[in-house]
Amino acid sequence: MITKVYKAFNDKIDKHEMEDAIAVIKNGGLVAFPTETVYGLGGDATNPEASKKIYAAKGRPSDNPLIVHIAHFSQLEDIVENVSSEARALAEAFWPGPLTMILKKNDKIPYETTGGLDTVAIRMPNHPIAIQFLKESDCMVAAPSANLSGRPSPTTAKHVYDDLDGKIDVILDGGAVEIGIESTIVDLSEEIPTILRPGYITLDEISRVVGPVKMDPGLVKEDENVRPKAPGMRYRHYAPRAELTIIEGEDKKVVVKINELIESATQKGQKVGVISTEENKDCYIGGEVISIGKKDDEDEIARQLYKVLRDFDDSNVDVIYSEGFDTSGIGGAIMNRLIKAAGHRIIEV
Ligand code: TXA
Ligand code: MG
Repeated sequence: MITKVYKAFNDKIDKHEMEDAIAVIKNGGLVAFPTETVYGLGGDATNPEASKKIYAAKGRPSDNPLIVHIAHFSQLEDIVENVSSEARALAEAFWPGPLTMILKKNDKIPYETTGGLDTVAIRMPNHPIAIQFLKESDCMVAAPSANLSGRPSPTTAKHVYDDLDGKIDVILDGGAVEIGIESTIVDLSEEIPTILRPGYITLDEISRVVGPVKMDPGLVKEDENVRPKAPGMRYRHYAPRAELTIIEGEDKKVVVKINELIESATQKGQKVGVISTEENKDCYIGGEVISIGKKDDEDEIARQLYKVLRDFDDSNVDVIYSEGFDTSGIGGAIMNRLIKAAGHRIIEV
């Protein structure tokens, strides 16, 4: 299959190219598209064959459900059993935007799309090209992140191309995304709204709209016997090719420790990468150092995270040492991704 890449100018895709992408999705094909969080790999959410193609292209286990992307609230009403007042209030507050809600599904969405579950994940993305595509196709689009399963999520069209060239029909290229980590997932199918995946919208922000909200106990790492409820959060994910270790603690001690690690890895003949904050980037001796952004600029760190991990894949380092990042605000979502990429290898100093 030849993968066509349609590039946007001023956030708009050429009319004929958009028409082609719409024809592809309506005929059960696959179209990758930008959202504000990461690129998605889209297929018609009501077409079981399209969902099967998504799993095949990504190499993703078919019990890991997809998120249904919509452009109108009425589409949510169309596919769920019952629209709770919480769902209305959260949509009012955060849609279009980086929030995914989980509700009980009706039979308009096939089990192929929900990985066999009776619930469905739904989100209204906030990106001009995604919105244009969803509105003009009048399609509900099932889309996981547009990466090969196990690789970091794509934040540019090139990342999508690197992973999926020859496996999907079309890539809509809208340049680099704005947020860089996936949406917050909130489960509304049970008594108390529960965060299944932290993201740009925080628990506190959600709680201000709907009252008490809890964090999925499976996400708290001290409790390794409880499995995360979102199937996708159970896998080792976002993985760079090199072995990644996070070094956490007081800033100066972290720098000293990473320098020791660089020295001993280099002596063993290993190629070393370092993920550094902007403030510390000149403190490291040896190794390939990439700055991920200033310490207090969480938005920038989120935007750069997956790109940095992919850049280290390209430069073929054997090991990566990363500073830990502040866990207030969206720092929690950033560290959640980084810890998974590291397979929980953390050194406290
Ligand atoms: O920001 C995002 O959410 C991006 C963009 C493209 O919208 N999409 C994304 O999709 O991150 P994906 O497939 O990579 O992650 C979806 C996550 C998985 O962890 C999956 O297990 C979980 O959502 N999920 C989907 N439906 C679910 C359901 N019914 N119950 C529990 N977890 C669900
Ligand atoms: Mg993903």
